[in-house]
Amino acid sequence: VKRVTTHTLRAMKEAGEKIAMLTAYDYSMARILDAGGADVLLVGDSASNVMAGHETTLPITLDQMIYHAASVVRGVNRALVIVDLPFGTYQGDSKMALKSSIRIMKESGAHAVKLEGGQEVEDSIRRILSAGIPVMGHLGLTPQSIYKFGTYTVRAKQEAEARRLLKDAKMLDELGCFGMVLEKIPAELAQRVSESVDVPTIGIGGGAHCDGQVLVTQDMLGITKDFHPRFLRRYAELFDVIQKATESYVTDVKAGDFPNDKEQY
Ligand code: KIV
Ligand code: NA
Repeated sequence: VKRVTTHTLRAMKEAGEKIAMLTAYDYSMARILDAGGADVLLVGDSASNVMAGHETTLPITLDQMIYHAASVVRGVNRALVIVDLPFGTYQGDSKMALKSSIRIMKESGAHAVKLEGGQEVEDSIRRILSAGIPVMGHLGLTPQSIYKFGTYTVRAKQEAEARRLLKDAKMLDELGCFGMVLEKIPAELAQRVSESVDVPTIGIGGGAHCDGQVLVTQDMLGITKDFHPRFLRRYAELFDVIQKATESYVTDVKAGDFPNDKEQY
Protein backbone atom coordinates (compact mmCIF):
# COMPACT_ATOMS: atom_id res chain seq x y z
CA VAL A 1 0.00 0.00 0.00
CA LYS A 2 0.99 3.58 -0.65
CA ARG A 3 1.74 5.40 2.61
CA VAL A 4 0.10 8.69 3.43
CA THR A 5 2.60 11.55 3.79
CA THR A 6 2.27 15.22 4.67
CA HIS A 7 2.44 15.86 0.91
CA THR A 8 -0.51 13.51 0.33
CA LEU A 9 -2.57 15.62 2.73
CA ARG A 10 -1.70 18.83 0.89
CA ALA A 11 -2.64 17.18 -2.42
CA MET A 12 -5.93 16.01 -0.90
CA LYS A 13 -6.80 19.58 0.06
CA GLU A 14 -5.98 20.77 -3.45
CA ALA A 15 -8.14 17.99 -4.94
CA GLY A 16 -11.00 18.71 -2.54
CA GLU A 17 -10.73 15.25 -0.98
CA LYS A 18 -11.56 15.28 2.74
CA ILE A 19 -9.00 13.96 5.23
CA ALA A 20 -10.20 11.41 7.83
CA MET A 21 -8.16 11.45 11.04
CA LEU A 22 -8.67 9.56 14.32
CA THR A 23 -6.71 9.29 17.53
CA ALA A 24 -4.83 6.10 18.42
CA TYR A 25 -2.79 5.15 21.46
CA ASP A 26 -2.05 1.43 21.07
CA TYR A 27 -1.04 -1.23 18.56
CA SER A 28 -4.27 -3.25 18.41
CA MET A 29 -6.55 -0.29 17.79
CA ALA A 30 -4.09 1.31 15.36
CA ARG A 31 -4.21 -1.85 13.21
CA ILE A 32 -8.01 -1.70 13.04
CA LEU A 33 -8.18 2.03 12.27
CA ASP A 34 -5.48 1.69 9.60
CA ALA A 35 -7.37 -1.24 8.05
CA GLY A 36 -10.51 0.90 8.10
CA GLY A 37 -8.84 3.53 5.94
CA ALA A 38 -8.13 6.34 8.38
CA ASP A 39 -5.69 8.65 6.55
CA VAL A 40 -4.04 9.96 9.70
CA LEU A 41 -3.65 8.55 13.20
CA LEU A 42 -3.01 11.11 15.89
CA VAL A 43 -1.30 9.90 19.04
CA GLY A 44 -3.07 12.62 20.99
CA ASP A 45 -2.21 13.72 24.48
CA SER A 46 -5.89 12.92 25.02
CA ALA A 47 -4.27 9.59 26.00
CA SER A 48 -3.98 11.34 29.36
CA ASN A 49 -7.79 11.29 29.62
CA VAL A 50 -8.75 8.25 27.59
CA MET A 51 -5.94 5.83 28.46
CA ALA A 52 -4.78 7.01 31.88
CA GLY A 53 -8.01 8.42 33.33
CA HIS A 54 -6.68 11.88 34.17
CA GLU A 55 -9.05 14.84 34.24
CA THR A 56 -6.91 16.91 31.85
CA THR A 57 -4.15 16.41 29.26
CA LEU A 58 -1.56 18.15 31.46
CA PRO A 59 -0.11 15.18 33.43
CA ILE A 60 1.00 12.94 30.53
CA THR A 61 4.78 12.76 30.08
CA LEU A 62 7.02 12.67 27.01
CA ASP A 63 8.10 9.09 27.89
CA GLN A 64 4.46 8.01 28.07
CA MET A 65 3.66 9.68 24.71
CA ILE A 66 6.64 7.91 23.13
CA TYR A 67 5.42 4.54 24.45
CA HIS A 68 1.96 5.15 22.95
CA ALA A 69 3.45 6.43 19.68
CA ALA A 70 5.81 3.49 19.18
CA SER A 71 2.91 1.09 19.76
CA VAL A 72 0.77 2.89 17.15
CA VAL A 73 3.60 3.02 14.59
CA ARG A 74 3.97 -0.79 14.83
CA GLY A 75 0.27 -1.20 13.98
CA VAL A 76 0.19 0.97 10.86
CA ASN A 77 0.75 0.13 7.19
CA ARG A 78 -0.72 3.17 5.48
CA ALA A 79 -1.75 6.01 7.80
CA LEU A 80 0.42 9.01 8.65
CA VAL A 81 1.26 8.98 12.38
CA ILE A 82 1.35 12.33 14.18
CA VAL A 83 2.30 12.66 17.85
CA ASP A 84 1.27 15.41 20.28
CA LEU A 85 4.06 17.18 22.12
CA PRO A 86 2.81 17.01 25.72
CA PHE A 87 2.40 19.97 28.05
CA GLY A 88 5.70 21.34 29.33
CA THR A 89 7.93 19.89 26.60
CA TYR A 90 7.91 22.70 24.02
CA GLN A 91 6.58 26.01 25.39
CA GLY A 92 8.91 28.89 26.10
CA ASP A 93 12.10 27.07 25.12
CA SER A 94 12.63 26.25 21.45
CA LYS A 95 15.70 24.09 22.13
CA MET A 96 13.71 21.94 24.53
CA ALA A 97 10.96 21.79 21.88
CA LEU A 98 13.44 20.47 19.32
CA LYS A 99 14.89 17.94 21.80
CA SER A 100 11.41 16.67 22.66
CA SER A 101 10.51 16.36 18.98
CA ILE A 102 13.74 14.54 18.13
CA ARG A 103 13.06 12.05 20.94
CA ILE A 104 9.57 11.39 19.55
CA MET A 105 10.85 10.90 16.00
CA LYS A 106 13.83 8.70 17.00
CA GLU A 107 12.27 6.58 19.72
CA SER A 108 8.79 6.03 18.25
CA GLY A 109 9.31 6.08 14.48
CA ALA A 110 6.38 8.49 14.05
CA HIS A 111 6.20 10.83 11.05
CA ALA A 112 5.36 14.25 12.53
CA VAL A 113 4.60 16.16 15.72
CA LYS A 114 1.71 18.42 16.71
CA LEU A 115 1.72 21.26 19.22
CA GLU A 116 -0.80 23.76 20.54
CA GLY A 117 -0.75 27.51 20.06
CA GLY A 118 0.10 30.31 17.66
CA GLN A 119 2.39 33.29 18.03
CA GLU A 120 3.53 32.22 21.52
CA VAL A 121 5.15 29.03 20.16
CA GLU A 122 6.54 30.52 16.93
CA ASP A 123 10.19 30.03 17.94
CA SER A 124 9.61 26.41 18.91
CA ILE A 125 7.89 25.69 15.58
CA ARG A 126 10.71 27.34 13.63
CA ARG A 127 13.37 25.31 15.38
CA ILE A 128 11.56 21.96 15.06
CA LEU A 129 10.96 22.60 11.36
CA SER A 130 14.64 23.52 10.91
CA ALA A 131 15.53 19.92 11.83
CA GLY A 132 13.30 18.54 9.08
CA ILE A 133 10.53 17.43 11.41
CA PRO A 134 7.02 18.10 10.07
CA VAL A 135 4.84 20.13 12.44
CA MET A 136 1.06 20.33 12.70
CA GLY A 137 -0.50 23.27 14.55
CA HIS A 138 -3.56 23.30 16.81
CA LEU A 139 -5.71 26.40 17.41
CA GLY A 140 -9.01 27.22 19.10
CA LEU A 141 -9.88 25.23 22.20
CA THR A 142 -6.38 24.00 23.02
CA PRO A 143 -6.85 21.66 26.02
CA GLN A 144 -3.37 22.25 27.48
CA SER A 145 -4.58 25.81 28.24
CA ILE A 146 -7.77 24.70 29.98
CA TYR A 147 -6.83 26.49 33.21
CA LYS A 148 -6.40 29.72 31.25
CA PHE A 149 -9.78 29.29 29.49
CA GLY A 150 -11.54 27.98 32.63
CA THR A 151 -14.16 26.17 30.51
CA TYR A 152 -14.43 23.75 27.58
CA THR A 153 -16.93 25.96 25.70
CA VAL A 154 -16.54 27.20 22.11
CA ARG A 155 -13.57 29.55 21.48
CA ALA A 156 -13.21 32.63 19.26
CA LYS A 157 -16.86 33.68 19.27
CA GLN A 158 -15.72 37.26 19.95
CA GLU A 159 -14.22 39.31 17.14
CA ALA A 160 -10.87 39.95 18.86
CA GLU A 161 -10.14 36.26 19.53
CA ALA A 162 -11.35 35.33 16.03
CA ARG A 163 -9.04 37.89 14.43
CA ARG A 164 -6.14 36.60 16.52
CA LEU A 165 -6.88 33.00 15.53
CA LEU A 166 -6.97 33.85 11.83
CA LYS A 167 -3.62 35.63 12.21
CA ASP A 168 -2.12 32.64 14.03
CA ALA A 169 -3.40 30.27 11.31
CA LYS A 170 -1.75 32.36 8.61
CA MET A 171 1.46 32.38 10.64
CA LEU A 172 1.45 28.57 10.98
CA ASP A 173 0.93 28.30 7.23
CA GLU A 174 3.75 30.72 6.44
CA LEU A 175 6.17 29.09 8.90
CA GLY A 176 5.74 25.82 7.00
CA CYS A 177 3.46 23.73 9.21
CA PHE A 178 1.87 20.98 7.08
CA GLY A 179 -1.59 21.41 8.59
CA MET A 180 -3.51 22.50 11.64
CA VAL A 181 -6.26 21.27 13.92
CA LEU A 182 -9.12 23.71 14.57
CA GLU A 183 -10.89 22.73 17.77
CA LYS A 184 -14.32 23.94 18.86
CA ILE A 185 -14.63 27.25 17.01
CA PRO A 186 -17.56 28.66 14.99
CA ALA A 187 -17.96 26.90 11.62
CA GLU A 188 -17.92 30.23 9.82
CA LEU A 189 -14.51 31.12 11.28
CA ALA A 190 -13.12 27.64 10.51
CA GLN A 191 -14.29 28.06 6.91
CA ARG A 192 -12.59 31.44 6.68
CA VAL A 193 -9.35 29.95 8.06
CA SER A 194 -9.57 26.98 5.68
CA GLU A 195 -9.91 29.34 2.71
CA SER A 196 -7.08 31.56 3.96
CA VAL A 197 -4.34 28.93 4.33
CA ASP A 198 -2.76 26.63 1.75
CA VAL A 199 -2.34 23.71 4.13
CA PRO A 200 -5.17 21.45 5.29
CA THR A 201 -7.28 22.30 8.33
CA ILE A 202 -8.58 19.39 10.43
CA GLY A 203 -11.68 20.17 12.43
CA ILE A 204 -13.01 18.82 15.71
CA GLY A 205 -16.08 20.90 16.40
CA GLY A 206 -14.97 23.13 13.50
CA GLY A 207 -17.77 22.42 11.06
CA ALA A 208 -18.08 20.99 7.57
CA HIS A 209 -15.78 23.37 5.72
CA CYS A 210 -12.56 22.12 7.28
CA ASP A 211 -10.36 20.10 4.93
CA GLY A 212 -10.59 17.10 7.24
CA GLN A 213 -12.11 15.89 10.49
CA VAL A 214 -10.73 14.28 13.63
CA LEU A 215 -12.44 12.58 16.57
CA VAL A 216 -11.14 10.82 19.63
CA THR A 217 -11.57 7.17 18.66
CA GLN A 218 -12.97 6.04 22.00
CA ASP A 219 -15.64 8.78 21.74
CA MET A 220 -16.45 7.86 18.12
CA LEU A 221 -16.79 4.18 19.09
CA GLY A 222 -18.92 4.84 22.17
CA ILE A 223 -16.32 3.46 24.58
CA THR A 224 -16.32 6.64 26.65
CA LYS A 225 -19.61 7.29 28.45
CA ASP A 226 -21.37 10.49 29.47
CA PHE A 227 -19.59 12.69 26.91
CA HIS A 228 -22.01 14.20 24.42
CA PRO A 229 -20.65 17.40 22.86
CA ARG A 230 -22.53 18.59 19.79
CA PHE A 231 -19.60 17.82 17.48
CA LEU A 232 -19.43 14.13 18.43
CA ARG A 233 -21.07 11.53 16.20
CA ARG A 234 -21.00 8.01 17.63
CA TYR A 235 -20.50 5.19 15.12
CA ALA A 236 -20.83 2.35 17.63
CA GLU A 237 -21.80 1.71 21.25
CA LEU A 238 -18.80 -0.37 22.24
CA PHE A 239 -19.13 0.29 25.97
CA ASP A 240 -22.37 -1.69 25.90
CA VAL A 241 -21.02 -4.34 23.52
CA ILE A 242 -17.96 -4.97 25.71
CA GLN A 243 -19.96 -4.86 28.95
CA LYS A 244 -22.39 -7.49 27.58
CA ALA A 245 -19.52 -9.71 26.40
CA THR A 246 -17.92 -9.41 29.83
CA GLU A 247 -21.19 -10.36 31.55
CA SER A 248 -21.52 -13.45 29.32
CA TYR A 249 -17.94 -14.49 30.08
CA VAL A 250 -18.44 -14.01 33.83
CA THR A 251 -21.69 -16.00 33.70
CA ASP A 252 -20.04 -18.86 31.79
CA VAL A 253 -17.03 -19.03 34.14
CA LYS A 254 -19.19 -18.96 37.27
CA ALA A 255 -21.47 -21.68 35.83
CA GLY A 256 -18.53 -23.91 34.93
CA ASP A 257 -19.66 -23.68 31.29
CA PHE A 258 -16.33 -22.23 30.14
CA PRO A 259 -14.06 -23.93 29.23
CA ASN A 260 -15.89 -26.90 27.69
CA ASP A 261 -14.39 -30.22 26.52
CA LYS A 262 -13.16 -28.75 23.22
CA GLU A 263 -11.58 -25.73 24.91
CA GLN A 264 -9.06 -27.69 27.00
CA TYR A 265 -5.97 -29.91 26.47
O1 KIV B 1 -5.19 14.94 21.84
C1 KIV B 1 -6.09 14.89 20.97
O2 KIV B 1 -6.88 13.92 20.89
C2 KIV B 1 -6.19 15.99 20.02
C3 KIV B 1 -7.30 15.95 19.01
C4 KIV B 1 -8.64 15.98 19.62
C5 KIV B 1 -7.13 16.98 17.97
O3 KIV B 1 -5.39 16.87 20.07
NA1 NA C 1 -4.06 16.91 21.86
